[in-house]
Amino acid sequence: MTAPAPPLAMLAELTHRCPLQCPYCSNPRELERASNEMDTAKWLDILEQATDLGILQVHFSGGEPTVRKDLVVLVEKAAQLGLYSNLITAGVLLDQAAVRRLFDAGLDHVQLSFQDSEAGSADLIGGFKDGHRRKLEVARWIRAADLPLTINAPLHRRNLSHLDAIIEMAVELGAERFEAAHVQYYGWALRNRGALMPTRAQLEAATVTVEAARARLKGVLVIDYVVPDYYARRPKACMGGWARQFLNVTPVGKVLPCHAAESITGLDFDRVTERPLADIWQDSEALRRFRGTDWMPEPCRSCDRREIDWGGCRCQAFALTGDAAATDPACEKSPEHLAMFSLAESESAQPPPPFVYRRIGAKA
Ligand code: SF4
Ligand code: FES
Repeated sequence: MTAPAPPLAMLAELTHRCPLQCPYCSNPRELERASNEMDTAKWLDILEQATDLGILQVHFSGGEPTVRKDLVVLVEKAAQLGLYSNLITAGVLLDQAAVRRLFDAGLDHVQLSFQDSEAGSADLIGGFKDGHRRKLEVARWIRAADLPLTINAPLHRRNLSHLDAIIEMAVELGAERFEAAHVQYYGWALRNRGALMPTRAQLEAATVTVEAARARLKGVLVIDYVVPDYYARRPKACMGGWARQFLNVTPVGKVLPCHAAESITGLDFDRVTERPLADIWQDSEALRRFRGTDWMPEPCRSCDRREIDWGGCRCQAFALTGDAAATDPACEKSPEHLAMFSLAESESAQPPPPFVYRRIGAKA
């Protein structure tokens, strides 16, 4: 078997701690506590190993990565190693001096999440008082430090009617890119699916809004748009295929092919505290399990899209069928596709139940 090409990027999940409690959180249902997190020396070593492996980009993420006191040191190390660094943050813990320190340490880019364009709704969704006002401030500090800014807003039935205003907010804040990604339903988001699932009419209206904004804002704002799988005919190429382009390192050092992979039971993910990163990437059983096309059952095995979408999302297949090797139900060739679509239609037709917030220690 030929060795896999090196991954392009590593998601460094520094912590699962987070001041927000979003109902669509994509971290695993069992969160790691601070006392289990890897220390600074181990993360510095991982950054070196990632560079040796050929990784070009590191995304510092969480939870909320700014709760880590060593973030500046890690950013500095990434810059020394020539890694392109991106900070994925909710922003609410940053002040202007901290933004400046990150810039001076060599940070290349910030991705700031927003819950909505209206403060009341945004704070209700994130479960964090005064969060929206703080984020607006942080966005201005980021731009004042001359850091490129992407704004990302997870979309769902409770904020879709504000999509135009959210896009205008991104323009006004000087973002270069806007990620309009409908919530994907695994991890904690699955627990809140009824509270978040849009109707088909809402989805169609959002798509029209995005297309119009793309035309209007050409050269001003790039808009990435991810539709909800439940209404799709074909699945997305999740992570560009299992363990093909990206890897995730969790706060305790487990190496995953995607942020949600621990939701699949029966896979044992190797730890970078016990085995070199390059070995894990090339040879770990869990990463090899769904890499490429050899693992595919029919209809994927003989489908001409098998090297386009790589069979869709393994985490979603597991969440909806109990079998991670099944065809992603987002695909209309899957026997589960109609059931998935009907589920979306019936849940979105009901009045939304209250959110179940994400807290360390909360059970699904
Ligand atoms: Fe993708 Fe498999 Fe569906 Fe073909 S059958 S489109 S490879 S998920
Ligand atoms: Fe894990 Fe799609 S989120 S494979």
